[in-house]
Amino acid sequence: MKIVVAIGGSILLQDYDYKRFEEYSNILKTYCEEHELFVVVGGGKPARNYISIVRDLNAGEGICDDIGIEVTRINAKVLTIALGDYAYQRIPHNFQEALEFSATGKIVVMGGTEPAHSTDAVSSILAEYVKADLLINLTSVDGMYTKDPNKFDDAELISEITASEMLDFISGKDVSAGTYEFFDSTAVQIIKRSSLKTIIANGNNPENLIKAINGEKVGTEVITD
Ligand code: UTP
Repeated sequence: MKIVVAIGGSILLQDYDYKRFEEYSNILKTYCEEHELFVVVGGGKPARNYISIVRDLNAGEGICDDIGIEVTRINAKVLTIALGDYAYQRIPHNFQEALEFSATGKIVVMGGTEPAHSTDAVSSILAEYVKADLLINLTSVDGMYTKDPNKFDDAELISEITASEMLDFISGKDVSAGTYEFFDSTAVQIIKRSSLKTIIANGNNPENLIKAINGEKVGTEVITD
């Protein structure tokens, strides 16, 4: 299979050490013979911190996004270092480069592309671009909930949702730099228009990546309408 894996920066940098990078690189190395792998890495807390500094310096939203993108690319670079020879060592800045770099047969790791969306959107556009069979989005919660699980005790995990239902659900959420909510709507629109098989799972347990690749039930599956 051709698989795009999105890993939130908050997952990789949870403890600010090498271990998460190493855990994920070990899993990716195991599956890269059998599958063609692309990885999109998020910005996490350092992205939000830098964005807050430049926003205080009166930068516009586009510049704030540019700063966030730079941080995602640093995180991507760190993952390629963990992957060593298994990864193509340059970070693509756009989808065409990602496709070109994948011709080497190595794992391609990238961060953001341009302002006004999150790495969730990047991963879905990439999945569409390379005609991926599966998009796996590893986030800091178990999947899509009926309510924010960090705020509401009665939030329930949704095991299957259509892209249209998901769009309705997330519309109207905040989209300023560094504050994209659970999943950005651009990402869902792409998932919908290209009927991308998508699994959203908790990346704090790297085993969930193995489950998602192996087709075991995990997190929330976005199904076609
Ligand atoms: P992320 O998509 O990583 O957002 O990009 P996040 O919410 O911090 O994600 P986690 O915590 O890693 O899961 C960080 C910021 O970089 C900018 C946005 O401002 C985003 O909030 N960005 C990222 C872009 O503008 N374009 C991109 O393609 C990617």
